Amino acid sequence: MSSSLVAVVYIGAAILFILSLGGLANPETARRGNLLGTIGMVLAVLATVLGPRVTAAGFPWIVAAMLVGGSIGLYAARVVQMTQMPELVALMHSLVGLAACLVGFASYIDPDMELSGAEKAIHEMEIYIGILIGAVTFSGSVIAFGKLSGKISGRPLLLPARHWLNLAALLVVIWFGYAFLQAADVAAGMLPLTVMTLLALLFGVHMVMAIGGADMPVVVSMLNSYSGWAAAATGFMLANDLLIVTGALVGSSGAILSYIMCRAMNRNFISVIAGGFGAAEGAAPAAAGSQPAGEVTAISAVETAELLRTARHVIIVPGYGMAVAQAQHTVYEITRLLREQGVEVRFAIHPVAGRMPGHMNVLLAEAKVPYDIVLDMDEINEDFPDTDVAMVIGANDIVNPGAEDDPASPIAGMPVLQVWKARTSIVMKRSMASGYAGVDNPLFYKENNRMLFGDAKKMLDEVLVALKG
Ligand code: TAP
Repeated sequence: MSSSLVAVVYIGAAILFILSLGGLANPETARRGNLLGTIGMVLAVLATVLGPRVTAAGFPWIVAAMLVGGSIGLYAARVVQMTQMPELVALMHSLVGLAACLVGFASYIDPDMELSGAEKAIHEMEIYIGILIGAVTFSGSVIAFGKLSGKISGRPLLLPARHWLNLAALLVVIWFGYAFLQAADVAAGMLPLTVMTLLALLFGVHMVMAIGGADMPVVVSMLNSYSGWAAAATGFMLANDLLIVTGALVGSSGAILSYIMCRAMNRNFISVIAGGFGAAEGAAPAAAGSQPAGEVTAISAVETAELLRTARHVIIVPGYGMAVAQAQHTVYEITRLLREQGVEVRFAIHPVAGRMPGHMNVLLAEAKVPYDIVLDMDEINEDFPDTDVAMVIGANDIVNPGAEDDPASPIAGMPVLQVWKARTSIVMKRSMASGYAGVDNPLFYKENNRMLFGDAKKMLDEVLVALKG
């Protein structure tokens, strides 16, 4: 394939990636967006592999690597549970970071072409910055994977003077960058490059270790953005325009998503980007499972069915527990039945409900819940006072009134779904245990709140039977 044909295919792939992102912005067009992205990626890979820069000798290696990588990807996609998706995503980001580091070192040790003067300096800066971003992304993502999968504690690690440590690391990185650019040959440049890489790896670990459990979604999205910039840097190193464009798309869309999530959790975007996020705010989340004092009113599945049947307006708030229990299909069955009986049923989706962006939308779409009754928090929060029953299914932090009323709460200021304003709220969960942030929930003790204890799927099955009966 000639280089001009490769350029044409690259432009086509870039357009497909942009259309893909556009499609993914809406659940109704997400499938098409996914397909367009896949076609774009297949074209991009084919054009690169068949292009003029791959020699015949390299071909078998590339095919073997693609087979191994493709098989691992296929296997991971098949076995991963929906609830483990954020961990998988974090792991994938770490691979992008690692690739940027490896390409950087390879491109320094064995450059594609002889460069001199300003061109050489620019190429070496690309390598230095690319490895820097790649190493931070790699180690940060590995730690994020550990935290999300529970292999590392979710509590923030607060080293004394940690901001000064970060600043000192930055200055050392700049100093070694200068030494790297001044190096007479590759052998002399390896030392500053290696020291910087080690520092960047430590920085990535330190940055994510300092972040509290409840703030992890933003970190994953931020690492997504970093992985995009690492890919863009790799594109500069390899002089591959498509990689630059794709990396920039991922980098900027990840940054936008981080910003949206920061707003949803009332966090400061700049402090996230700077790292050390969520740690300076003081109170670390209480241990998960700590139990507040007070009286709660339990309710049975039959009573719940009765409340739903006699209601006119119902809002369902799904959370992480619905995903764990895989209760979405039963939820939809109940919704259909109630709607047939003239009850208005809508879903309220908090931006960080579950464990990844769009988690609840994906589950509800899987259960074929119509999109027009699934509403974002901002669209529906004002409607709770006019609602007869707000049914919370396996959600906790996102309906915690303490976020609004208690300035000392670790999630103070986080916007929440105001279910307590409904005539009756019903919280469906197995116990009095706290949610992801490990904070107590005063909602459970409110006078108009009822607790339906048990596994969400089991309890909803009982509610469904009672509704049909
Ligand atoms: P959580 O606050 O984690 O609460 C989920 C609740 O579901 C738990 O209190 C648990 O109580 C209950 N539960 C678990 N398994 C259940 C089952 N089988 N049946 C019934 N209930 C079950 O979830 P949320 O309200 O969705 O809030 C999300 C939290 O996760 C936020 O703190 C958010 O910051 C964080 N987070 C979000 C993301 C993204 S991007 N969405 C990523 C990482 C973290 P029991 O144990 O008593 O049943």
